[in-house]
Amino acid sequence: MNITLGFDVYGTLIDTHGVILQLEKMIGDDAPGFSQAWREKQLEYTFRRGLMGRYQDFSVCTRQALEHTADTRNHDLSEQQKQTLLAAYSTLPVFADVVECLDSLKDTGMSLYAFSNGQAEAVNTALTNAGIRGYFEGVISVDSIGTFKPDPAVYEHFVNAANSDIDHAWLVSSNGFDVIGAIAYGIRAAWVQRSGSVVYDPWEFTPTVTLSTLADLCEVVS
Ligand code: 2OP
Repeated sequence: MNITLGFDVYGTLIDTHGVILQLEKMIGDDAPGFSQAWREKQLEYTFRRGLMGRYQDFSVCTRQALEHTADTRNHDLSEQQKQTLLAAYSTLPVFADVVECLDSLKDTGMSLYAFSNGQAEAVNTALTNAGIRGYFEGVISVDSIGTFKPDPAVYEHFVNAANSDIDHAWLVSSNGFDVIGAIAYGIRAAWVQRSGSVVYDPWEFTPTVTLSTLADLCEVVS
């Protein structure tokens, strides 16, 4: 059986902090801090909804996190500004190493999937706008089973939806909680350390490999 790679989307392929450019026009110097807080709250909402069994799709988490972040940081964003920021989520840039990595994997016989908390339609749009949709056999979304990463059920869903098995499936992700979820479920996982200041969680589930750039992925997966 061929190797199957499931690429996490937001934070791994697509840079969620690409929204800082829009934010700067609205709130100036607070843009980087706002972007960071928004992203953290978005993920917190997915964790909480997963635990509570109160699934709402990822775009709801994104919107509610935006509202909470604006309230917390005392920015009175108009509905139009919120719409602009949410719309920016579908035109976020890819990280600099992504295209070269996908190109190098193209003729290896490996199956490549995008595997995300985002709904399939939103992910398809984001990948298409970023010019990389064509590299993937498909988009596998947690939305099909109504819960979020790192619920073990979503990794099982990924393996099944990709017609793979636990010995041949890998997750590729910059999100430590995602890597831990995949390893705990039983598949292999490459952790992409997107910045030297990001620290992996000191849990009992370590990444199969740690990469500082996706450029090295091709050499380590087999
Ligand atoms: C994704 O699933 C976790 O945001 C990340 O795309």
